[in-house]
Amino acid sequence: MLRDKYANEIDALLARFPQKKSAVLHLMHLAQNEYGYLSDAAMREVAGILDLDPTHILSLAGFYSLFYEEPTGRYVLEICNDLACALRGADDFVDMAARKLGVPPESTTPDGLFTLKTVMCLGACHRAPMLQCNLKFYENLDETRFDALLADLRAKAAAGDPEPSVVERIFSYVGER
Ligand code: FES
Repeated sequence: MLRDKYANEIDALLARFPQKKSAVLHLMHLAQNEYGYLSDAAMREVAGILDLDPTHILSLAGFYSLFYEEPTGRYVLEICNDLACALRGADDFVDMAARKLGVPPESTTPDGLFTLKTVMCLGACHRAPMLQCNLKFYENLDETRFDALLADLRAKAAAGDPEPSVVERIFSYVGER
């Protein structure tokens, strides 16, 4: 349970906000990182910590593409193919990525390592083709850079080095002030 495993971190996080509910996105990231995706049980757990109705968590999970309601691969490759990126070749890039991974968009490779998704604007339109992998941006991509990224992520997975640690990012500023 999140409350038991991250008691100190959650207390420190909640102390930073005037209202508990303001920490909802942080706790949703924490739950997703812990369980791999936001299951119904995970959303109810977050709602319980924050004294919110579970339907509120469900609505946020549905709104933000960063939250997954289904199991995903270890690395979620979210390629923006919204209009501005499409004008810079994002659709061809998505096709190339799907070919390299051997799975179509919105699916996961059989080894569970990669989930390929397409998403709406991530705010890096001028650096397309771009993707976000586990909250980290990769920009000005081409086939060579994509190959290098896949090789790097496979090497990190083989070394047991998750990339990146969402929990570390969530709590990196807790206690700084
Ligand atoms: S349209 Fe792709 S980042 Fe904005």
